[in-house]
Amino acid sequence: MKASTLFSTLLPLTTAYTIPSTKDSNNAAANRIPTARESAILARRILTLTPLGTISTIFPSTSSSRSPPGIEGKPHALMEYISACDPLYPSHPTLLSLNISSTFRNAAGANLSLAMTWTPPPLPPLSRSFLSRLNPFSHGDAPKPQSYSAAALPRYSLMGYLEPIPGADDSKSDTGKQVQACYTTTHADAKYWLPGNRIHESHFVRLVVTEIYWVGGFGDRAYIGWIDAKDWESVTEKEIEGVRLPGERPLEGKDL
Ligand SMILES: *[C@@H]1O[C@H](CO)[C@@H](O)[C@H](O)[C@H]1NC(C)=O
Ligand SMILES: *[C@@H]1O[C@H](CO)[C@@H](O)[C@H](O)[C@H]1NC(C)=O
Repeated sequence: MKASTLFSTLLPLTTAYTIPSTKDSNNAAANRIPTARESAILARRILTLTPLGTISTIFPSTSSSRSPPGIEGKPHALMEYISACDPLYPSHPTLLSLNISSTFRNAAGANLSLAMTWTPPPLPPLSRSFLSRLNPFSHGDAPKPQSYSAAALPRYSLMGYLEPIPGADDSKSDTGKQVQACYTTTHADAKYWLPGNRIHESHFVRLVVTEIYWVGGFGDRAYIGWIDAKDWESVTEKEIEGVRLPGERPLEGKDL
């Protein structure tokens, strides 16, 4: 393979970590910072593609007698399974609440926050080491390859509270069938602790999103700040399909 062919193949992979993939690097007008609404679309795409998040809760004043003394009021953050499976409210993350889980015990009657991080598909090992040592695009206005930076990647926090998804625990109802099929597509192992299993009591819940705080990457090219809950909710399936995140393959017929 000629070196130039190799570079042109790998360029989209490396620049994807440093410039938002929805932009045209030759078009100055397209290089403006995305709006909060445009960021909401990226955030909703992350929700559909990311199976894990970190939920932060606060230990209530009535923590179990087995908790260490003085735990009340302290923050508690743990990885949890998430999905976007709610037929009625696709913008509200779908969670399977286990009664034994400290996260869900703390969340009863309280607000919580869910931290989401975009993790791009891994780069081929060759391109990572090879391109980090070379800079073949340092002329003209072609984008410069930069070393990988997690700070350039989008992440955000959803704040809100949990409520039951009516019908979702019943595997014979239409909602139950839909939610459970969707949830186990993302989390196949969760079939062992679906509602009605004989070991742990569990219930499907939605995170009703009330506030969104978004960090799209570096502030010179990404939006950082609050996203309106109405913008978050109004994002359509079509809009989610129409954008790409850093490191994703570009849309058909579109350059990065
Ligand atoms: C389990 O949690 C749900 C709320 O998610 C509650 O309604 C139910 O009573 C709890 N079950 C037990 C046995 O405490
Ligand atoms: C949760 O936050 C809402 C505002 O979004 C507030 O009205 C409510 O009182 C809070 N709930 C608790 C239990 O603090």
